[in-house]
Amino acid sequence: MSSHDLNIFNRIKIGIIGCGHLGQAILESLINHGFQKENLFISYRGNPSTYEKIEKMRLTMCISKNEKVFNEADVIFITTKPQDVISLKEIPISPNKLIVSCLAGLSVEILKNIFKTDICRMMLSGPDTIVAEKGVATIYPYNELVGRILSKMNLRIFEISHEKDVDIFTAGVCLPAALLQEDNEVIIKEAIHEIEQEWARFLDLYEWAKIILPSFATEDEKVEYIARMITKGGVTEAIIDSLKSGELFVTALRKGITRSKEISRQISNSILN
Ligand SMILES: NC(=O)c1ccc[n+]([C@@H]2O[C@H](COP(=O)([O-])OP(=O)(O)OC[C@H]3O[C@@H](n4cnc5c(N)ncnc54)[C@H](OP(=O)(O)O)[C@@H]3O)[C@@H](O)[C@H]2O)c1
Repeated sequence: MSSHDLNIFNRIKIGIIGCGHLGQAILESLINHGFQKENLFISYRGNPSTYEKIEKMRLTMCISKNEKVFNEADVIFITTKPQDVISLKEIPISPNKLIVSCLAGLSVEILKNIFKTDICRMMLSGPDTIVAEKGVATIYPYNELVGRILSKMNLRIFEISHEKDVDIFTAGVCLPAALLQEDNEVIIKEAIHEIEQEWARFLDLYEWAKIILPSFATEDEKVEYIARMITKGGVTEAIIDSLKSGELFVTALRKGITRSKEISRQISNSILN
């Protein structure tokens, strides 16, 4: 690592708007990797149990109003639920701020319309993988500063050139659950190679998923783990339901990609209407 990279955490202030599952994982990882609390500005909506978690992390001193986060931080990660982002629309943002949206489904075009400043999207694997330094992420459009922050957090970055590939990446980060549900390696590999025709890094994402796959003492533990990875109506659910109904692995992955696109459309419509 160059000395340039070593300094990055000393040279910037980071804001995190939203301290739920993902926001807390990013916070924990930043602190674990030496980011100074004094340069951290965080906000949440007011849930007392969220406050307790922030307190447990000894970060209450970092809690700020959204206005202050937008004013003080150089790079601001938005980790609210997509539907909550609209409440941030009227807040004035000082010049030269970079917004990093972690919100599934919101395109750069829509985000620019909301924030009217520099923006990029980021998609990540689950919060547990981020804290465990086994996570993967993609940034669109690629931003070097964000890339360096994620590298310091030991996240592996997958570059993408087209925004549509975010949907394939989103299905790809669900591969750990899918691989626990299906064990026919020939069928899995055929599927991976088929999706690879659309996005060349899919094979690497598959290799990542195999490495981070936990092992279980009992079948019940495995079933519980898969259930924990499923969000109602989400991409993992679409993939697992397809596999459970006996469909091919490639069909299940395609259903996951389609579900990601559908979610994007639904969110965009609800934000725009
Ligand atoms: N979880 C994942 O595995 C994962 C992976 C990749 C991407 N994502 C994306 O990450 C985003 C967050 O997901 P999550 O699972 O972390 O959600 P979550 O647990 O529900 O957390 C959302 C957080 O946003 C806060 N919030 C809501 N409105 C706010 C406002 N106006 N100002 C400041 N904070 C506000 C909430 O505050 P309170 O705590 O006070 O309610 C909560 O802390 C989603 O958009 C999702 O698409 C999630």
